[in-house]
Amino acid sequence: MRARPRSSPGSGKLDNQVALITGATRGIGLAIAHALAAESCDLILTARDAPALDRVGRELASAKIGILAHPCDVRDPHSVDALFRAARQQFRRLDILINNAGIAHPNHPVEKLPFPLWKDVLETNLTGTFLVTQAALAIMKRGGTIVNNLSIAATRVFPGSAAYSASKHGVLGLTNTLRQELRPRGIRVIALLAGATNTDIWNTFWPQAPRRKMMSPETVAEAVVQAILLPANATVETLEILPTLGTL
Ligand SMILES: NC(=O)c1ccc[n+]([C@@H]2O[C@H](COP(=O)([O-])OP(=O)(O)OC[C@H]3O[C@@H](n4cnc5c(N)ncnc54)[C@H](OP(=O)(O)O)[C@@H]3O)[C@@H](O)[C@H]2O)c1
Repeated sequence: MRARPRSSPGSGKLDNQVALITGATRGIGLAIAHALAAESCDLILTARDAPALDRVGRELASAKIGILAHPCDVRDPHSVDALFRAARQQFRRLDILINNAGIAHPNHPVEKLPFPLWKDVLETNLTGTFLVTQAALAIMKRGGTIVNNLSIAATRVFPGSAAYSASKHGVLGLTNTLRQELRPRGIRVIALLAGATNTDIWNTFWPQAPRRKMMSPETVAEAVVQAILLPANATVETLEILPTLGTL
């Protein structure tokens, strides 16, 4: 999406906190970056496209927050390691993790779904979330929050989208397990189940989708930040947000 959300002066409720957002160069990740920046949260921004990351880093500079824009391919453990080395060097802490990086795929029935596509989607959406979360847990402390951007495809199926659905159902299992494991550590785990949101991802599988019926990424970001801002002793475990008109 080319339309840019702008960081507006917020209440600064996340001053001195650090958030890492994967897939921060566009769509929902970029909108969450702006919404967190408006609350004065320091940001670690990542995606594969380095020039796009630099642009987003410059765009957010006016928010007067600490920013590390570091490329990372979430499918690659070495790339994730390098990201966290840089993150630890600059910030030494992590309060909020937004596992947002994700891809969809062109529609194919299962019998025609090319294996490389299956592998790529599972590695990005499922393995990528695992790798980044595992690295993050080494530095996250009590009071931290993890938001996993799943999709309503984590609980519903759409014919032609088997790899996407399988990956999102898989991350829901990972997310629910993680939440139970992290309760004693006081780390909240939020499953974000968004419906149709107007971003570039739709070009992959339904370019003509009726975008006017979709939510904006800024709306989803607003809901996420409101959930993060709840008192530490309360959590939204599942954040399901849909266009008022329902699924498209
Ligand atoms: N849009 C919707 O209707 C909708 C609804 C529910 C859930 N979601 C989920 O929301 C998340 C964001 O989607 P979006 O709609 O905002 O899509 P988008 O606009 O296409 O953004 C995807 C982001 O993920 C990054 N990314 C992709 N592969 C990556 C990799 N291997 N390593 C690191 N970063 C990677 C992309 O940057 P690079 O290409 O530069 O790496 C980009 O920043 C996805 O997990 C998606 O499944 C979307």
